[in-house]
Amino acid sequence: MPEKQIIEKCSAVIQWVSSVNGASPRRGYIPTSIRMGNNVEMPFVGLGTGGMPSSEPEIDFAVRTALDLGYTHIDVTAGFHATIGAILKEYFELGKLSRKDIFITAKLPCTSHGRSSVEKSLRSQLETLQLDYVDLFLINTPCGVQIYRLKLARAIGISNFNVDQIQRVYSTAEVKPHNLQVEVHLHWPQKELVVLCQSLNVCLTAYAPIGSPGQLPKFGVEKASPLAEPLVLMLADKYKKSPAQILLRHLTQRNIVVIPKSTNAQRLKENLDSLKFTISDIDMEALGNIKPKRRVYTYIHRRNHPEYPFCELDDEEYPITV
Ligand SMILES: NC(=O)c1ccc[n+]([C@@H]2O[C@H](COP(=O)([O-])OP(=O)(O)OC[C@H]3O[C@@H](n4cnc5c(N)ncnc54)[C@H](OP(=O)(O)O)[C@@H]3O)[C@@H](O)[C@H]2O)c1
Repeated sequence: MPEKQIIEKCSAVIQWVSSVNGASPRRGYIPTSIRMGNNVEMPFVGLGTGGMPSSEPEIDFAVRTALDLGYTHIDVTAGFHATIGAILKEYFELGKLSRKDIFITAKLPCTSHGRSSVEKSLRSQLETLQLDYVDLFLINTPCGVQIYRLKLARAIGISNFNVDQIQRVYSTAEVKPHNLQVEVHLHWPQKELVVLCQSLNVCLTAYAPIGSPGQLPKFGVEKASPLAEPLVLMLADKYKKSPAQILLRHLTQRNIVVIPKSTNAQRLKENLDSLKFTISDIDMEALGNIKPKRRVYTYIHRRNHPEYPFCELDDEEYPITV
């Protein structure tokens, strides 16, 4: 068997073993990306841009710093296409980066879910990004098939779908989703969703992978951040890593892509470097045993929609409003 095929087979087996029991990848081998169902590679650590301040200098700083540090994956949020596109163009022209070395995720806004709007929306985003294609386009309906066929996106995915909705989409979609982007972190581990997606070969991206600490005060002090979890602090000390690195590595060792947001150079580096160590199987298990607490992003204002996905929310805490 040619060497390339053997390497590909090995890496697939390692990923399969890891996904089955949550075990660490084989000692000494740390994959930096995950292969989606259609063989497109997705880097494990990306830069989340949602929630960044809307001032252009700050986004500009964060994106340039990330690229200079070696980030190869950007999750593009609405409103930032022009800034990110201009930086990418500059880096391509200066030869600092080539298109194939950067993974770009874009999203279909919820105002463009109509079948005829999908391609139009993506084409307009591509124009502003000054790109010919995105690597992943996250959509909420199966009508993204056309943009995949037109090669405007190398992979398509969905975001904020629950188990039932994923099964429905998966069983009816002509092109099965390659990726699911949902909230996943230590306090919201989404175990059922992870098992389902990994069994369907739909790779997962965790948004709010650190638990979106900036948003936690609105839930009150008793809802502590995963960053302050005693086990996380203990493991940070044991591995000589930061608490955020423990949280991110816990997810990537579960074969989940992470897109932490930061506008701070030190933290951007820390987050990228989270791939450079391995948490032992015993410590992974202990982290996995922490009782789930709550999700941060509830999109509660959409609660009345018939397809509102977060059906596990407690009615008392979030009364339905008319
Ligand atoms: N699909 C969706 O519906 C959806 C929803 C929400 C978010 N997202 C995506 O997911 C990304 C991440 O989500 P998020 O920003 O809510 O949560 P997050 O990445 O878990 O947390 C970001 C917060 O953590 C801080 N932080 C970053 N690195 C840190 C570190 N090493 N140590 C300590 N603090 C650190 C950041 O502050 P500094 O900037 O000061 O470092 C920021 O306040 C978003 O940017 C967006 O792209 C998608």
